[in-house]
Amino acid sequence: MKDKVVIFDTTLRDGEQAPGCSLNLVEKIEIAKQLNKLNVDVIEAGYPVSSKVQFDAVQRIADAVDTVVAGLARTVEKDVKAAYDALKHADTFRIHTFAGTSDIHMMGKFGSDRYGKTLEEKRQHILKLSCDAVALAKTYTNDVEFSPEDAGRTDIGYLSEIVEAVIAAGATTVNIPDTTGYTMPLEFGAKIAELKSRVSNIDDAVISVHCHNDLGLAVANSLSAVSNGARQVECTINGIGERAGNASLEEIAMAIKVREDLWDVETNINTSEIFNASRMVSSFTGMVVQPNKAIVGENAFAHESGIHQDGMLKDNKTYEIMDPEVVGVQESKIVLGRHSGRHGLISRLKAIGFDPSEEELNSIYERFLELADKKKEVFDDDLRLLMGQEVAQKDYRHFLDYLHVNIGTTTIPTATVRIKSNEKLVEESATGDGPVDACFNAIDRALNSKFHIESYQVRSVTVGRSAQGEAHLRLKNGTKSFSGRGVSTDIVEASAMAYLQAINEYSIQGEVEELLDAVTAP
Ligand code: KIV
Ligand code: ZN
Repeated sequence: MKDKVVIFDTTLRDGEQAPGCSLNLVEKIEIAKQLNKLNVDVIEAGYPVSSKVQFDAVQRIADAVDTVVAGLARTVEKDVKAAYDALKHADTFRIHTFAGTSDIHMMGKFGSDRYGKTLEEKRQHILKLSCDAVALAKTYTNDVEFSPEDAGRTDIGYLSEIVEAVIAAGATTVNIPDTTGYTMPLEFGAKIAELKSRVSNIDDAVISVHCHNDLGLAVANSLSAVSNGARQVECTINGIGERAGNASLEEIAMAIKVREDLWDVETNINTSEIFNASRMVSSFTGMVVQPNKAIVGENAFAHESGIHQDGMLKDNKTYEIMDPEVVGVQESKIVLGRHSGRHGLISRLKAIGFDPSEEELNSIYERFLELADKKKEVFDDDLRLLMGQEVAQKDYRHFLDYLHVNIGTTTIPTATVRIKSNEKLVEESATGDGPVDACFNAIDRALNSKFHIESYQVRSVTVGRSAQGEAHLRLKNGTKSFSGRGVSTDIVEASAMAYLQAINEYSIQGEVEELLDAVTAP
């Protein structure tokens, strides 16, 4: 029997911290369900104390899946309590508490004298806070994880001391994060080996690792740690996460599977769900997977040169170390079109990881027919985008009902929009520097709003001349940012939809009361 490596997925927590990535509640639940199908062992669903949105997400996800769900908490009483409150209705759950332990974190984050005057005083203070937080979490659940943040740069003597203390206080998993992606694989592996030999009670806890990818070594470091005794790996789908991201789940799982001849460990991952998970995360977050990304990139199984194609035709093992089907990449010959029935649509949706209810299917089918009228062939990626829009819109209040744009080389761009806002129709026109600007101005007039747009991108997401364009934008209000995404065969319409989606996100987060009042006032 091989040892199990616990796969702790943090796509919905650390992954969501990636710049430009934001998921709404419904999208998070849909991703959590897919992680459930992927058979990850733990889903870190968010950081409950940080906002109501995060709290609700953790609570709802714990409700929606049968995987162990974890909530993050600083070593602060109110954080640990909030994590418990969000998770308490689940059968089993984990509280994950963390504190910075490197000298840089001590002197920076814990620089104030209230944490102690000298480095040693600060270290002892943090150690006590950590043990108290673990002990408190332990009164709520048996499953408690502690992370000494920036362990990669933490002095090994102090790291061993705090790890031993938190295990004595009740931690069942001790996670060793390389928070800044600074370490080298041999160095990080040696750190795990050293902890194993220095910490007297280490066998009472699972050693976990959490590696960031700043030097492109997150997966190598995680695997090196596993070689040295780590039995949990924290990772994200497509490797999304803070800065350069986290260790990629699909790369860890497949490295262990493809080289099972070398490993005395295995994971529980249902690898045939990897591709669906990757596409769903990419489509909901708008974070494009680089074409040459290992396992899930568009080119991961493409063979371009004649010599390679010839070799593949003779024996696909010549240039492929894994079958694409093993990670769920299907050579789909099924393309839907305007004559496809509901049955064809539902079976394709199921094949790519969605399971819509009867009511959802009615609305998706209508939108599918509209799309099939605009473009002859509807591919799997079109369906993912359609589902993404469907999922995103569940809680929305403002919808684009009509759009007309007037442009030309010598005309002033003008847009007219009609928006269905809380069941009322509001129509407005405006001019702008270009058709997109005119649309945004018209929407602002209709909703009596004005937002600063932080970023705006348009790209083509499906293939051919009738490819769908996806617009992605982030708007800012005060210190908060809200993302929106729109997809259409018309990129101006996609942009208007993206702008409205970001406004909807803003409204959902409860900060647009005046705006809503203005719109809905008789
Ligand atoms: O990178 C990190 O150190 C983290 C911790 C909260 C585990 O994300
Ligand atoms: Zn992290």
